[in-house]
Amino acid sequence: MGAGIATSFLAAGSSVRLVESTEVLSEGAHSRVQDSLERMARKDALLDPQEALARLDLRLDHDGENDAVKAVIEAVPEDLELKKRLFSTWEPSYPSDTLLASNTSSLPIAEITGGLEHPGRGIGMHFFNPVPVSSLVELVVADHTNDATLNTARELVAVLDKTPIVVKDSPGFASSRLGLALGLEAIRMLESGVASAEDIDTAMQLGYKHPMGPLRLTDLVGLDVRLAIAEHLAGELGPRFEPPELLREMVAAGHLGKKSGRGFHDWS
Ligand SMILES: NC(=O)c1ccc[n+]([C@@H]2O[C@H](COP(=O)([O-])OP(=O)(O)OC[C@H]3O[C@@H](n4cnc5c(N)ncnc54)[C@H](O)[C@@H]3O)[C@@H](O)[C@H]2O)c1
Repeated sequence: MGAGIATSFLAAGSSVRLVESTEVLSEGAHSRVQDSLERMARKDALLDPQEALARLDLRLDHDGENDAVKAVIEAVPEDLELKKRLFSTWEPSYPSDTLLASNTSSLPIAEITGGLEHPGRGIGMHFFNPVPVSSLVELVVADHTNDATLNTARELVAVLDKTPIVVKDSPGFASSRLGLALGLEAIRMLESGVASAEDIDTAMQLGYKHPMGPLRLTDLVGLDVRLAIAEHLAGELGPRFEPPELLREMVAAGHLGKKSGRGFHDWS
């Protein structure tokens, strides 16, 4: 997601710093951004991928001159303690009005950013996968988020030519809560032999005009990511979000969806 968000801002003409945790991961992020820009350029004659890539600054930390940084968007794994720890570590490196956003799919923005020294600048900016072609950004507003932060977030979404929705900080926000309800039911249907993965997906694609079926979407998001969200929502909203056994088994077996080559569909 981090590479996708970076790609979208680069394609829109912004300068982007991408912070990864190791040199190897940083090289991987560079290739993903490059591939993605080249793919976008095949459909957009005005986009010069090399010029856009030249505005990418890859780093392993947040040190240095940060006065001109308008926003920091976090996309580390869906782990509340990790996110809280990183936000409090990063905050002193940036001016007090730099927006600090989390791309979390489900965790409370109040908890991720509530402990900041300047909590008013904390907000959720929930992007969708794949970021460069997805037109929605869900802006998640906690009680402590101030109006200036929401306005800056709206401006950033406008830079990307995407559409914002504004949602109160609540479990799963609007998109993950509804998307997961459908995805988990599709897995339960597969588990109990109602239909094949292909046919369940086709039901929603052709019957309800979804661009992609719920199982293929789960493959794209990552089964591990969806499992983590389901566990969180089950704790917050009750047993209707309890992850099906099949989802747990597939994650334990390393079948994480597109990124591992196999999920509910074969991606090899
Ligand atoms: N996968 C999706 O479709 C999707 C969609 C919307 C939102 N999200 C959310 O985005 C976030 C990331 O999800 P993902 O699927 O991209 O996860 P991922 O595991 O693919 O990527 C996480 C990245 O964070 C990096 N990272 C870990 N610790 C770090 C640190 N200390 N400093 C810098 N980088 C660090 C990892 O190296 C990795 O590149 C999660 O909160 C997830 O819920 C995911």
